[in-house]
Amino acid sequence: MVISPDLEPCILVIFGATGDLTQRKLYPALANLATKGFLPDRFAVVAVGRRSKTDSIVREEARHAAGFSANTVDIKARDRFLKRLHYFQMDFDNREAYQGLRAFLAQLDDAYQTQGNRIFFLAVAPQYFGTIAKDLHFHGMATNVGAWQRVVVEKPFGNDLTSARQLNTQLTKTFGEQRVYRIDHYLGKEMLQNLMVVRFANTLFEPLWNSRYIEEVQITVSETVGVGSRGPYYEAAGALRDMVQNHMLQLLTLIAMEPPVALDADSVRDEKVKVLRSLRPLTKAAVTEQVVRGQYGPGSIDGETVLGYRQEERVDPASNTDTYVALELYIDNFRWSGVPFYLRTGKRLPVRSAEIVIRFREQPGVLYFAQKHNTLGPNLLVIKIQPEEGIFLQFNARKPGTQHTITPVTMDYCQNCLEGLDSPEAYERLLADVMRGDSTLFTRWDEVEYAWDFVDKISHVWEEMETEIDIYSAGSWGPRAAERLLARNGHRWLLPFQCLLSDRPIPLNEESKIREGIRR
Ligand SMILES: NC(=O)c1ccc[n+]([C@@H]2O[C@H](COP(=O)([O-])OP(=O)(O)OC[C@H]3O[C@@H](n4cnc5c(N)ncnc54)[C@H](OP(=O)(O)O)[C@@H]3O)[C@@H](O)[C@H]2O)c1
Repeated sequence: MVISPDLEPCILVIFGATGDLTQRKLYPALANLATKGFLPDRFAVVAVGRRSKTDSIVREEARHAAGFSANTVDIKARDRFLKRLHYFQMDFDNREAYQGLRAFLAQLDDAYQTQGNRIFFLAVAPQYFGTIAKDLHFHGMATNVGAWQRVVVEKPFGNDLTSARQLNTQLTKTFGEQRVYRIDHYLGKEMLQNLMVVRFANTLFEPLWNSRYIEEVQITVSETVGVGSRGPYYEAAGALRDMVQNHMLQLLTLIAMEPPVALDADSVRDEKVKVLRSLRPLTKAAVTEQVVRGQYGPGSIDGETVLGYRQEERVDPASNTDTYVALELYIDNFRWSGVPFYLRTGKRLPVRSAEIVIRFREQPGVLYFAQKHNTLGPNLLVIKIQPEEGIFLQFNARKPGTQHTITPVTMDYCQNCLEGLDSPEAYERLLADVMRGDSTLFTRWDEVEYAWDFVDKISHVWEEMETEIDIYSAGSWGPRAAERLLARNGHRWLLPFQCLLSDRPIPLNEESKIREGIRR
């Protein structure tokens, strides 16, 4: 098939191959990689599941799943990948079955000359991580001698620091830190990889990237969907654990970190860890003042009436689980002293969007700033992560045809609008990196540990307080308290860029209309 001669041969073994993650993300990513010739020449995939299936059934499922790819899949390349897809039936709890798996993989090594190299992708509930790792070890499938074996796990990596530590011990006992790839799929997103380039490859931005020139940073990840069928999982997690502990804090570290000494995994991750270590700890009083939590009530989105969280399937009708969190955070280091980082994430908000807004400080109130007739806007740099990927820059210029009227104007780069560009999907990039043995875009244990420690302190205060959660209407921008959070500092949430592209009315609440006039 393929062909990427620089990739070492290997077998990708997917535990939980009948599950949602494999079908919706892994098979499409593999079909994309095959299309682009980014799979190793000597390669096979083993789908592991407990149901009785044949290779041809699994291939048919994967063929169908490849249709979920947002990109153009080359049919011939996909079919060549499907030919190398095999099924192995076993129950994870059955210790003897691992012996059979070992023999099966050895047979495939002979057939595809994959030399004993393995990627074990655990697309399973975390409760199985320990069992699978232990039995792979027990049956000599993870010795890393003469061939390499790597393990990939998805979030949630624990439910708090204690459970994360347990999971980590179970995995590292077999694989060691170096061979554990913890996915935070946000890191696989195109614009996150671009973020470091924008920061460190442009004279334009890096010199201004500090508290002297930056007034505030806003990070928004908003979803329109509710909890759907994931009620039981979400009841135990909530937005803080589900989104802030991983994706949101990862975005924060990439925005705030110092330039790494090199681009290798450890150099980058060392800098990210320093940001987490510099986060100002939230005392009980600070949690009350700087963290807002909310839960969606009934409402309407896109003209459709939707249920409140407490009315959702398998959710406690008196639940206090957070479906929205907004935080005002500070990084106590030389670069960021005093700059607020506002983070917000929530379900059932008006648009699906992920973006980072850097708002630069205003010029001194003289010259144009002193003239009443001018409507100067702030300098904004917006990193658009999804659904649109790109960069938006707002600055001030003279309004054409006027003598001295100044008005905000924009430059907008949309990467995934470029014709013919199939922007790689996150899992595509991440799978390719595991094959290459590059863990830069995966979270290291100390990152996970600091993030859990930070988030746990907030959870503990919430548990102690036992106060009723703020209910916001589905389709609104969350609790009013989130507006007040910024208003205290003279700031306001900026509307996500996505709102400007929408042809339907988006509720503004008390949000700034700063970018309202800017439409393409
Ligand atoms: N789905 C996503 O988009 C997504 C996103 C982020 C993180 N994750 C994480 O990724 C992991 C997998 O998620 P998922 O949504 O794919 O879960 P899922 O749909 O519930 O799939 C779990 C898989 O594990 C298999 N399984 C469970 N117990 C087994 C056993 N004893 N022996 C053999 N197979 C067994 C299931 O087989 P059966 O089909 O026979 O039940 C199924 O294939 C979870 O940790 C989840 O939190 C998923």
